[in-house]
Amino acid sequence: MAQAKILVFAGSIRTGALSQKLASLAAKELAILDAEPSLISLSDYPMPIYDGDLEAREGAPENARKLRRMLLAHRGVFIATPEYNASLPPLLKNTLDWISRAKEPLTDPFKGRFFAIGSTSNGRLGGYRALIALRQTLELGLGATVLPEQIAVSEAGQAFDENGGLKDMRQAGFLRASLTRLIAFAESEL
Ligand SMILES: Cc1cc2nc3c(=O)[nH]c(=O)nc-3n(C[C@H](O)[C@H](O)[C@H](O)COP(=O)(O)O)c2cc1C
Repeated sequence: MAQAKILVFAGSIRTGALSQKLASLAAKELAILDAEPSLISLSDYPMPIYDGDLEAREGAPENARKLRRMLLAHRGVFIATPEYNASLPPLLKNTLDWISRAKEPLTDPFKGRFFAIGSTSNGRLGGYRALIALRQTLELGLGATVLPEQIAVSEAGQAFDENGGLKDMRQAGFLRASLTRLIAFAESEL
């Protein structure tokens, strides 16, 4: 069977971002699990803040169309997000908003593929509230299928070892479970 193609990215472009660490680890784990991950950074796809006038004048940015094509080329997606004021960060929301508005290619990139989500935070909740908001946007806003398994990495500044792995075996297990399920769905005929 062909390897499951999984797109992986973080909702932060900050140097040393904790969510980027989780995205990198997810990509590494996916490769170990015999999937085919593509790890990208949103820093390579800059876009202005969504503005209806700008859209009416110029259409969606080329980077939104590129990301749309990128999504369509993968069957599964893993998104690692930070938490900003109990929600998802504007970078991630703006990116999803623009992708949803770029009608080129016409095929809806959120339907027919599977999403797994994870969060990182230095707090005790591990960015859990950002996961709720991201799930709402993906499922209710965009009609995507988001797997129930998710990971919220608490006290994330201390959570990763020198090889980028999760020190806590329970946390590592949550990530593994989420990615294993993502691969199973990505390989399914659903
Ligand atoms: C505007 C803003 C709001 C934030 N709100 C929260 C929050 O609600 N909960 C939380 O745990 N951390 C919050 N933080 C802290 C971020 O989680 C922390 O800066 C994190 O390291 C950013 O993610 P990154 O490391 O992936 O860049 C906030 C940070 C900013 C800049």
